[in-house]
Amino acid sequence: MSIFKPANRLNLPAYPFAELERKASSIRASGGVLHDLSIGDPDLPPPQFVVDAIKASLDDPAAHVYPSSRGNPEVRESVARWFKGRFGVSVDPKTQICISIGGKEALSQFARAIVNPGETVAFPDPCYPVFRRAGTFMLDANPLKLPLDPQNGFLPDIKPAKGARLLFINYPNNPTGASAPDSFLMELGKFTDDNPDTSVAYDMAYSEMTFGAPSRSLLEFTPNAVEFHSLSKMANATGYRIGFAVGDPSRISALVRVKEEMDSGAPLPFQRALQTILDRYDGTTPPPELTANRAVYYSRKKRLEAAIKETGFEVFETDATFYSWFRVGVTEVPYINRLVESGLLLTPGSGFGEGGIGWVRASVTAPDSAIDAAAEIIRQIGTDI
Ligand SMILES: Cc1ncc(COP(=O)(O)O)c(C=O)c1O
Repeated sequence: MSIFKPANRLNLPAYPFAELERKASSIRASGGVLHDLSIGDPDLPPPQFVVDAIKASLDDPAAHVYPSSRGNPEVRESVARWFKGRFGVSVDPKTQICISIGGKEALSQFARAIVNPGETVAFPDPCYPVFRRAGTFMLDANPLKLPLDPQNGFLPDIKPAKGARLLFINYPNNPTGASAPDSFLMELGKFTDDNPDTSVAYDMAYSEMTFGAPSRSLLEFTPNAVEFHSLSKMANATGYRIGFAVGDPSRISALVRVKEEMDSGAPLPFQRALQTILDRYDGTTPPPELTANRAVYYSRKKRLEAAIKETGFEVFETDATFYSWFRVGVTEVPYINRLVESGLLLTPGSGFGEGGIGWVRASVTAPDSAIDAAAEIIRQIGTDI
């Protein structure tokens, strides 16, 4: 009898968050209380007008036929208008925008459009796991890690990426919450222009999850990169699976070609959901629902970080993302285990790569009561691991 073996490229350690989810469900199944701050999946609902747009679109006859792989032309026009108002950058909706089935899909398909087996993909360490897994290992490519140094605001030295086929960069950053200063974007823009053989994928999934100055687009500094946006974190809509890529026309066209081979585009009702929210921006000012949303996450983040700081652990304080990122020592694993035993699930930094060892990520995407319970557990355990 033959024993089935999947392709070698599936020979990866379990997806870190899938493992966490399994751990969480087994604790719940045994009747234990678990406050889950491990995954960046908003507990708050999307704005009602977004839900209404989806419902209305279901009655549109265009909603039940195949969408296009590049995305609905009107939705792309809304993206272009938003980009001009939000970042001051003009892009051609016909050639420079591709609607995607979320950011994860676009990032991994973009890598497939660019990278040949054996070529090098550069990404930060720690990073969003898709860069090193779907974007590198699953394409039989070679990884090049760019360490993120806390002393340098968790910004990488990008010079070693010269010669790589693809460079992934992400700000506002998951998992650290860091933002990119203009000086870094300027340097990255110049790198992009000076190294046409290295495609630069700039991931802005958290572009709208900021609490201070609005984030800036890399496309303000170079026309040659491709930038990735998503409705997921912007509008508490991770389940809607909708995002978009914007930038250099030839690279966008390569992404569309992959999508034509592999999927048939994003469902129209969810494209309309994206359109309705982008249309309600006034320049850099989001609709009031998003401002209110940010205020909730900001207050939770500050409350949790106050408790963490009381313990004496070092918090990397930021004005972006709904993540708190803090250092607990040489390794974070015993601390994570101690928390789980006390009913709190956080994400070990090592799940984001070697550079995350010793760090812990808490996502404040759980109800206020869970944030307060988590703060209490963190205070009680203190540094006594
Ligand atoms: C840095 C980063 N990029 C992209 C994504 C993808 O989000 P989605 O596929 O829901 O658009 C995530 C989701 O967690 C993320 O953290």
